[in-house]
Order: sequence, then C-alpha cells, then structure tokens
Amino acid sequence: MGRVRVRPLERRDMKDLVANNLDYAKEAKDPNFYVSSPAVPLNKKEEQEYFRSLWMQVERGDAIVSVAEAKGIVRDHVVGKCEIKRTNVFEMPHVGGLSIEINKEFRGWGIGTALLEDAIERSKEKFKIIMLAVFGPNPARKLYKRLGFEEVGVIPNGVKKDGEYMDYVFMARELRK
Ligand SMILES: CC(C)(COP(=O)(O)OP(=O)(O)OC[C@H]1O[C@@H](n2cnc3c(N)ncnc32)[C@H](O)[C@@H]1OP(=O)(O)O)[C@@H](O)C(=O)NCCC(=O)NCCS
Repeated sequence: MGRVRVRPLERRDMKDLVANNLDYAKEAKDPNFYVSSPAVPLNKKEEQEYFRSLWMQVERGDAIVSVAEAKGIVRDHVVGKCEIKRTNVFEMPHVGGLSIEINKEFRGWGIGTALLEDAIERSKEKFKIIMLAVFGPNPARKLYKRLGFEEVGVIPNGVKKDGEYMDYVFMARELRK
C-alpha cells in the first residue's frame, strides 16, 4: 500500500476532503463511477458546510470517519475516506450508514479495504448494524461481501445512469464486539 496511513478524521482535513468531493462530483458523468450524486452538485461552500456538519457528528459521537493519508506524494494529503454515520431515525440509533470513496488514482491499491476495516472496527463501540447501498455493477459489492456484508434487498432497476437501468442493492453487516 506504499506510504499510505489510515487514521481517524481530523479537523485539519477539511481542505483535502472538500477538494476530493469536488473531484468525485466531476466523476459523476463517468459511466464507470457507480456512486449516487446529488441532483444539483454541491459547490465549495456547501462542501465546507458538509464537512463542518460531519465534524460535529464525530464530536457528538454520532459518526466514525476514517481517512487514508498519502505521505510525501506531492505533499501529504488525504486520498480517501470512509464514514459510518448514525441514521437520523429515532428508532434506529444502533444502525450506522456507510459510505466510502477513494481518489481515482489510488483505487485498487488496498486502501479501501484498510479504510473499511478501520472504520468497522472502531464503529463496534457505537453501532450494532452497518448498512449501505450500492449500484448493481459496482465492483465494490465484492469487497463488501469479503468484509462480511450480506445483500439484504434489491430494488430492480432502482437506478438510472446514462439511460441504463441498474439494480439498487442494500447490504448490511451485524457487528459483534
Ligand atoms: C470502491 C472503492 C472504495 C474500493 O476501494 P479500493 O481501494 O479501490 O479497493 P481495494 O484496493 O481495497 O480492494 C479492491 C477490491 O475491491 C474491488 N474494487 C471495487 N472497486 C474497484 C475499483 N474502482 N478499482 C479496483 N478495484 C475495485 C476489486 O474487485 C478488489 O477486489 P479483490 O481484492 O477481490 O480483487 C474505490 O474503488 C472507490 O472509491 N470507488 C469509487 C467510489 C465508490 O464506488 N464507492 C462505493 C460506493 S457504494
């Protein structure tokens, strides 16, 4: 994995994470990028707001966020993030919703696996179940299965990307301490 370190989110990560999210938003048009995007992309200010709100959730104990920091490649910077956030449903305080993204040029190096393992391990103190949703053709499905997630439901043709319908797949993993 080279000089990449997985660690908990820090306040100083805002600049890198905002830049990363603006890059992922540009990828939304890529036919091989199977991630849900907001109907109207967030601008820089809105991304900064998103980060502040995420940081507050971490401080309140409602989110676990792990980041991957690449050392010395151009400069030290964050190249991936996995967040597991408590749902805002009153009756589901034991359930965390997971999302993960790695910068394009760092995919396939094992960073996603390391980030997921770290975030899942740390979330055992907070949650009993982790859930996520994934587009049918996303190769990440295999990765999630390898890490103990099960497919618990599918909305056939729940996603339309570039005019093509594809499944929307729900996955979940029960956590045991
Ligand atoms: C999905 C993602 C987080 C996986 O992280 P990663 O660092 O590329 O994954 P790893 O290198 O740890 O593991 C690779 C495994 O995941 C699968 N994989 C998933 N997406 C992949 C990608 N874009 N490139 C390479 N491998 C990918 C591979 O099949 C591989 O499985 P294997 O080890 O059995 O061969 C990352 O590719 C990514 O950010 N993709 C775009 C955003 C996304 O799809 N997020 C998930 C939305 S549900």
